[in-house]
Amino acid sequence: MKAAKFQSDLLKWYDVHARDLPWRIKPRTKPDATANTKPQARPHGMPDPYAVWLSEIMLQQTTVATVKAYFTAFTHRWPTVQALASAPLDDILAAWAGLGYYSRARNLHACAQLIAEQRQGVFPSEVADLLTLPGVGPYTAAAISAIAFGRPAVVIDGNIDRVMTRLHASHVPIKTNKAAIRDWAGALTPQDRPGDYAQALMDLGATLCRPTTPQCPLCPVKDHCAAHKQDSAAALPIKAPKPERPTRVGHAYLIQNQAGHVLIDKRPARGLLGGMDGLPTSDWQADAPPPLPASTPLNLEVRHTFTHFHLRLHLHRASADQAGQFPNARFISDFSNLALPTLFQKALKAANHCL
Ligand code: ADE
Repeated sequence: MKAAKFQSDLLKWYDVHARDLPWRIKPRTKPDATANTKPQARPHGMPDPYAVWLSEIMLQQTTVATVKAYFTAFTHRWPTVQALASAPLDDILAAWAGLGYYSRARNLHACAQLIAEQRQGVFPSEVADLLTLPGVGPYTAAAISAIAFGRPAVVIDGNIDRVMTRLHASHVPIKTNKAAIRDWAGALTPQDRPGDYAQALMDLGATLCRPTTPQCPLCPVKDHCAAHKQDSAAALPIKAPKPERPTRVGHAYLIQNQAGHVLIDKRPARGLLGGMDGLPTSDWQADAPPPLPASTPLNLEVRHTFTHFHLRLHLHRASADQAGQFPNARFISDFSNLALPTLFQKALKAANHCL
């Protein structure tokens, strides 16, 4: 494959078709980057590293469509890394509610504090330095280095895995082909405009080189694509069989005091949904643990899927005498300021008629 022609075909397409996303500035179509009107554009036509870092952390396990509103809310409320570093962790966790993978929010806060206190508010530009930051792994480090600093880091996300696999018509499942994909991606990464290039590949994967029904006739790099030549793009990548997700079972308790206020527990800082508010629950196990002795089943079950397991949460009413079982809980009368993970939003919705 001719790397220079591939890069220029892709970047030409990106200059016209780049998605307009709130953390992005317009493509750096040289030499004129003055079209960048977003507040996070730096004078030399590069985006603010804070905006890039924040968006990339949010995008790690969440879709672009969901991240947009959260990114906008965060940057309005905390416009700089210093502002985010000074915020109480609980405010950040509450603002993160609904995005999932809450350890990201704790790492976000730790990282902001490190940057503000130990690096004078300046993000490092090199992958090796970025990798030392809390919550920043190889993908995120490369993305920040390329997008915010114009370094030719090799950025590989799920979309790029798929694009590389198709370009080379590889029938090896992605999971067992990481080294080859890295070599292919590295050989194509340009010195010039690496940030636009990485985002162009992401956009190509999200809009044309989609997992199903790839839009090959519209693809700007179809002439470089072995899968297109063989008409096998739709069949690639080959999927490795997915490991079965186990199911866990638990109980959640609706506990109200005489005033009708509802007991809300704060989950332990470490672990799943760490530090988040929710209904008090039992442990979640493969075999249902016994519910609290003085509780009555509501015959309501909430189902929710986490990365490694499905959860079935049985709802029960328990008496206010049981509140002492949950030392980190408090009674709440006003839910309007309560930021709950999706699991507990579902549970409260299901139990709404019982309140
Ligand atoms: N997914 C992760 N990072 C992204 C970005 N910068 N643009 C579009 N999609 C992304």
